[in-house]
Amino acid sequence: MKKTILITGGAGFIGSHVVRLLVKSHPDYRIVNIDKLTYAGNLENLADIENKDNYKFFRIDITNMRQLRELFSKYSFDGIIHLAAESHVDRSIDSPLVFIRTNIMGTVNLLNLAKEQWKTGMNGKRFYQISTDEVFGSLDEGGVFTELSSYDPRSPYSASKAGADHFVKAYHNTYRLPVVISNCSNNYGPNQFPEKLIPLAIHNIVNNRPVPVYGQGENVRDWLYVEDHAKAIDLLFHRGRIGEKYNIGGTNEWKNLDLIRFLCSIMDDKLGRKKGTSAGLITFVTDRAGHDFRYAIDSSKIRRELSWEPLVDFKKGLDLTVDWYLNNTTWVQHVVSGQYKRYYRKQYGNR
Ligand code: NAD
Ligand code: DAU
Repeated sequence: MKKTILITGGAGFIGSHVVRLLVKSHPDYRIVNIDKLTYAGNLENLADIENKDNYKFFRIDITNMRQLRELFSKYSFDGIIHLAAESHVDRSIDSPLVFIRTNIMGTVNLLNLAKEQWKTGMNGKRFYQISTDEVFGSLDEGGVFTELSSYDPRSPYSASKAGADHFVKAYHNTYRLPVVISNCSNNYGPNQFPEKLIPLAIHNIVNNRPVPVYGQGENVRDWLYVEDHAKAIDLLFHRGRIGEKYNIGGTNEWKNLDLIRFLCSIMDDKLGRKKGTSAGLITFVTDRAGHDFRYAIDSSKIRRELSWEPLVDFKKGLDLTVDWYLNNTTWVQHVVSGQYKRYYRKQYGNR
């Protein structure tokens, strides 16, 4: 094998798309995927590649140094693509500590092991931190986040990701660890856990249940199809400049209410419902505490340096996503079992 690459959080939503892309497009790489398999991690996401010769999975918690040390004694990694995280803002409002443990302490554990393993030569090595646009805070109607925007995280989730990014930068500055960081906007697509807006809405529309919209649905997000993000990650892992940060986004801003109405019209067509039926399920609920108003990403740096651009437009991406959920009811049934029902009742009451 030419290289051994560690991917963390590869059983999650974005991680599984990254693992699949790298396993298939780099048959000469050994891809080692580690994941704790929290409620959000699901090996069914990778069923199609689990038997590939260049792929290995280990159930490992990145906050557990003993498990990590054992792994690092078995493999010499050429690169690390770090996605493992607690990723849902609403859960971070309810239970911040687990976000601090996994997102900050787990990241520092990996940084320490990379530093230790690469101490005899950092040439050709790379620690790639997958981060979020939420670290930049909230925009009003105008402006966009650039790589030079200062960090201003406003939720426990974004504060923990910002903390992790700061440690990654500090390890580059202090120990010359070869790092790259990217900050991406909202992803959507197959395999996303139905706690996030789009898969939750799809699931509820299919089941004729209320579709909860926080506040008045005026908040704005910039949506990117997950495979476009995975391709950007592949490019940055190989060709991003060491020590640099890159923004990734869809240049595709939608108010939540407009997005949900658009999704409802797509689903009316696919489910053979009368126009307007699904939109009748939209229900305004109590706003998220400290709800960031708007995110928007200027991704001109990665476009200019690496000729990356999103290839899947929003209508096409939503079609692919809805079709995936409609065709993968077993996957959905497995993830909306007991634990999900408890979470849902706590978050949304009995709606
Ligand atoms: P996800 O919640 O779907 O997946 C996270 C994965 O990490 C899961 O498989 C989970 O089991 C694993 N994990 C959690 N705690 C762990 C631990 N202690 N040890 C090992 N594994 C653990 O999240 P996602 O949406 O795929 O996000 C992946 C990464 O991308 C995160 O770092 C997130 O901050 C970042 N990101 C996400 C988005 C988005 O829109 N979803 C946008 C930008 C950046
Ligand atoms: O911007 C990147 C971030 O996008 C990632 O770092 C996070 O991991 C990811 O979860 C996502 O965060 P958001 O909070 O933007 O995503 P979420 O899908 O939870 O919410 C999208 C918008 O929809 C947000 O304005 C809140 C709103 N919303 C969400 C849910 C779950 C609702 O109106 N109703 C809901 O039920």
